[in-house]
Amino acid sequence: MSSSGSIGVFDSGIGGLAITQEIRKLLPNEDIIYVADSLHAPYGEKNDAFILQRCMAITEYLISQNVKAIVVACNTATTSCIEALRERYSIPFIGTEPGIKPAVLNTKTGIIGVLATPRTLKTTSFSALADRVALNIQVELMPCPDLVQQVESLKLDYDAAAEVVRQYVQPLTEKGVDTLVLGCTHYAHLLPVISRVAGPQVRIINTEVAVAKEVMRRLNHAKLNKADLKTADLNTASTELAATRFITSGNQTHFQKQVDVLWGAGF
Ligand code: SIN
Repeated sequence: MSSSGSIGVFDSGIGGLAITQEIRKLLPNEDIIYVADSLHAPYGEKNDAFILQRCMAITEYLISQNVKAIVVACNTATTSCIEALRERYSIPFIGTEPGIKPAVLNTKTGIIGVLATPRTLKTTSFSALADRVALNIQVELMPCPDLVQQVESLKLDYDAAAEVVRQYVQPLTEKGVDTLVLGCTHYAHLLPVISRVAGPQVRIINTEVAVAKEVMRRLNHAKLNKADLKTADLNTASTELAATRFITSGNQTHFQKQVDVLWGAGF
């Protein structure tokens, strides 16, 4: 694997754009290829075999495009099959898991909430994570079957989203949750609405910055980081224009609109 390759990022749709934005900020010299498997979103409604098959197809496409690392920017795909991907391919995979640990460190009431797809919350890898890090903490799980579609259809502002968000968030705040984990990458696009519905006493934990830092750490560790290799020539490295390519398996016109709205917004 050489440092000249791109970073591949994929998600069932546009959830991973928030992570990609953070990677772009942290690693401005790296080319990125983003794949949205929009034709098959949401993954939360599919079974493990189907999700693995889609993740393998996308991985093989990204490898054919000379990527040097792949970010599985989807909690559902990460919990469902990242270990199977690591067994099959030698390329580094960086996954996304709900930020239970920072939530445990933050809570004062000892009650945290997790918003995620029903599939993520049912997986053994999610329960193992919660069991491992949330000792003596009450973890309230809230499956949110509608929220991925809400984001995919770009119904993101308060008027369009507050009602659907409230049905998931209010029962948690009524239970005394003071820390809320966004356990699906799509939900980052609803952060302002979720924060407003939850109220100022609730801290929202999302993991885009942590994932971007982990990407940087893994590239450095494997000596695959372009910027790192060019420290002797910082001017060139910092002015080099890196490309971000966006690819979808779904409707091109709708995807273009999604990217225009979300990539331009700067999250
Ligand atoms: C989904 O495709 O259902 C959700 C993606 C995620 O869990 O991040």
